[in-house]
Amino acid sequence: MPNETPIFSAKNVVRTFGSGKKLVTAVDDVSFDIADGEIVSIVGGSGCGKSVLAKIMLGLYEPSKGSFQYEGHKITNQKDHWDEVQFIFQDPFSCFNQFFTIRSQLEAAFKIKKEKLTPQQISDRVDAGLMAVNVAPKDIEGKYPFELSGGQMQRMLLARIFALRPKVLIADEPTSMVDACVRANILDYLMKLKEELQMTIIFVTHDIGLAYYVSDRLFIMHEGKIVDQGKPDDVILKPTSPVTVQLLEDIPEIHKEWIKR
Ligand SMILES: Nc1ncnc2c1ncn2[C@@H]1O[C@H](COP(=O)(O)OP(=O)(O)OP(=O)(O)O)[C@@H](O)[C@H]1O
Ligand SMILES: [Mg+2]
Repeated sequence: MPNETPIFSAKNVVRTFGSGKKLVTAVDDVSFDIADGEIVSIVGGSGCGKSVLAKIMLGLYEPSKGSFQYEGHKITNQKDHWDEVQFIFQDPFSCFNQFFTIRSQLEAAFKIKKEKLTPQQISDRVDAGLMAVNVAPKDIEGKYPFELSGGQMQRMLLARIFALRPKVLIADEPTSMVDACVRANILDYLMKLKEELQMTIIFVTHDIGLAYYVSDRLFIMHEGKIVDQGKPDDVILKPTSPVTVQLLEDIPEIHKEWIKR
């Protein structure tokens, strides 16, 4: 029997910051269900609430109103949650400590896992994670984060995900610091995570062209609300919101070829 409980279920979720004149409504009455194994992209301009929504999914923020559930229950313990839900943020250097080798940090990431593995099993999983992103383990042996480029470090974040094998990955603008070639690689790895490990992936981006390329479903956000959603072909070929039309006009030329009109 397939698991029918949604991975994430949001009902009228609102998240505000501050109060009075300084009140900011970052997420404004959003409702959705995300199924196990889906790749959903959250697309929208700067400040529309994408990262706040991603942080609600990670259990870093609670909704101010409404209900948000992971696999049918409220997120009460972040540590338990991160055993299953992992993330990649925009800046890979902020996710690694400059004073420890990359390998030691990839291995230390297993501390959050409830599944208890031996040091040898952890080492093997790290090797497998590195090889999944086409890095030979000996190439990072003894290396520190500052010895690698931004693109190589993005790859280390992905190696960490391949090694840890969470159920859900939340990737917030993972391609914004890298050139077009590395960006295409990252997108290919996201699809490999879905295909080989059946991961559910939430991909946050400004770029509707990238989102089209990888997603099963798109959420278009504007001023905290989901203003358009559906399968990529439907959203892009029959946009129902002027926000979607504007995002389509803003697609970098290089990605337009990905959209089969
Ligand atoms: N901790 C916070 N305290 C106060 N306001 C916040 C906080 N986090 C986010 N906001 C505000 O909430 C709104 C949505 O922010 P969010 O970071 O989700 O935008 P975004 O869509 O991710 O933008 P970008 O594409 O630039 O990353 C913004 O107005 C932002 O200033
Ligand atoms: Mg953001």
